[in-house]
Amino acid sequence: MKKMSKKKQTPSASDLPSQSLPSSLRTQIQTKLLDWYRYQHRDLPWRNTQDPYAIWISEIMLQQTRVATVKDYYRRFLKRFPTPLDLSNAPLEDVLAMWSGLGYYTRARNLHKAAHQIAQTYAGNMPKDKESILALPGIGPYTAGAILSIAFGESAPLVDGNVIRVLSRLFAISDPLESAKTQNMYWRLATSLVPKKSPPQNDPGDFNQGLMELGATVCLPQNPTCFLCPLKQECQAQNFQNKSLFPPKKQERSIPTLFHLVLVVQVGNKVLLGRRPEVGLWGGLFEFPLLEVDDFQNSDSLLFHLAKERLGIDIDPQTSQITPLPPFEQRLTHRLMKFMPFRIRLQKKCKDPKSLFYQKALWIDPQKPAALGLSVWVSKLLSTLAKESHVL
Ligand code: ADE
Repeated sequence: MKKMSKKKQTPSASDLPSQSLPSSLRTQIQTKLLDWYRYQHRDLPWRNTQDPYAIWISEIMLQQTRVATVKDYYRRFLKRFPTPLDLSNAPLEDVLAMWSGLGYYTRARNLHKAAHQIAQTYAGNMPKDKESILALPGIGPYTAGAILSIAFGESAPLVDGNVIRVLSRLFAISDPLESAKTQNMYWRLATSLVPKKSPPQNDPGDFNQGLMELGATVCLPQNPTCFLCPLKQECQAQNFQNKSLFPPKKQERSIPTLFHLVLVVQVGNKVLLGRRPEVGLWGGLFEFPLLEVDDFQNSDSLLFHLAKERLGIDIDPQTSQITPLPPFEQRLTHRLMKFMPFRIRLQKKCKDPKSLFYQKALWIDPQKPAALGLSVWVSKLLSTLAKESHVL
């Protein structure tokens, strides 16, 4: 292919009205990508079904979690809640328990709410039209596009991080990703590329999955394996020396740090977990009692306050054994959480700690954690305790 000048300016969002894509180029891209996807795609559990409910569950899980982790969660979740009605009839506590460890629990709460709506409004069947799908809690344009194209064979586009990377390189677009104009342009481009014909020849679902699969396996963020790419002849980024322009780096934003004091109340080999009220971050999950603080100075006095405020128990510093445990952190997309745990050993279980905050309290053995909804930081601390408890 003829090389363009190295000085070529990259196209910008406004230069690329998607309607102007030559139809021969569009057909070429569709045919090559579909052929590649049909032969090369990974055999993943959600690729052996067209059940819109199963597709929905997989796409929600895949939004913030890696494929390797999702596989087992997906199988277990569908075994426990095979239909929207099963999900709707289950208590939220069970849904959160099945989600335990996947993180971003709002996803599970929204799935549960949406299942209620599907049960009440659509007699338990997933709706098929775009407006009704988009009206369900937790479903945005990406998930709607995935359900419509993969499950229903509709010519609906979708755009996620992988798709943006592939399209940015394919058309050498380096507009800043933060701008709404750029995002709209990617959606227009995806809309013009997704095949219009119905399956089986020209399946929009396979095409969309092909774009994502290419981004996940070949058109990688670093060191893409361009020699394996079915679109290498069409890829305009090949004409630039500095390929790292595509896509441009996101501007680094500093994220806030939140500090948490954590109380591990221990009696024998059992530790105390409380179930949070169902609203807000970590809503409905079990946790070690914790308190958000400005920093970790004066932790000792705040610890007694934490015990009183969250559990309604008075801890006597003279008779209680208090030991610091290793601090740890958890990075979320928009914040860094730091945790400073302290263990307080009591002689005997405080009977049903009269909680001012928790709906329910449980004593559990860290080596045999029950199937509970736990956030990632709680699982982390439980496994630290489980590892050390054999030497206690
Ligand atoms: N990432 C999220 N959903 C996907 C899918 N269905 N195929 C490939 N990658 C994905």
